[in-house]
Amino acid sequence: MRKQIAAANWKMNKTLTEGTTLLNEILSADFNLTENQELLFAIPFPYLINTSSMIEGKENMFIAAQNCHHKVSGAYTGEVSVSMLSSIGIKYCLVGHSERREYFAESNQTLAEKVNLCLAENIKPVFCCGESLSIRDSGNQNEYVGNQLNESLFHLSEEKISNVIIAYEPIWAIGTGRTASAEQAQEMHAHLRSVLATKYGNDVANNISILYGGSVKGANAAEIFSMPDVDGGLVGGASLVAGEFVQVIKGLK
Ligand code: PGA
Repeated sequence: MRKQIAAANWKMNKTLTEGTTLLNEILSADFNLTENQELLFAIPFPYLINTSSMIEGKENMFIAAQNCHHKVSGAYTGEVSVSMLSSIGIKYCLVGHSERREYFAESNQTLAEKVNLCLAENIKPVFCCGESLSIRDSGNQNEYVGNQLNESLFHLSEEKISNVIIAYEPIWAIGTGRTASAEQAQEMHAHLRSVLATKYGNDVANNISILYGGSVKGANAAEIFSMPDVDGGLVGGASLVAGEFVQVIKGLK
């Protein structure tokens, strides 16, 4: 059975003190995770070690990196490699968030390299995809997002792709307060699962978690997550407020 996942993406927010306070508030809140539910916290690089120690021994909770470099090592000042992440025990990494694609010109090809490096180090990539408003308005969103998967993931073996998590995040819904309707999310998620099934077969496709992202918050999480092909969410703004994120967690199937 595929995992149901609530993933927090702090982006470039919070100082160390603010971040550890937030994480403490969430960890001490009253919620229970079932065996099939997971929490991820995508945290800025400088706090990965501190926050990892805060969740040590907690079942089904993981600290994730927000990015990694697409080369193994070398003269790339300011960058962080996948093996560095692995060496501090990181098990998940966001790859290809739309902000990375837009502001740092990350292409589908570069993202394929990141995915390969992550999987080689036993780090599960949370592969982000999604279309802009103009693509949605033109009606080509299914083709566009399907192509993002094709160019960045479909070189992988069945075994490898089974360790990838997909996050569908329509760019027009990120940080805008404009959420895709539960039906719009379901429609795209079902499309992506069918594209995965065509390439890898139903068993593989049915075991890959596909998260929705874009203005998920406490008040809308349960409805969106109730859709059959939506396996939780990648949450930005609402993950910065403990009470909101706890509501999101409680919305998981
Ligand atoms: P948002 O961000 O929840 O603030 O819309 C989601 C994301 O970018 O992952």
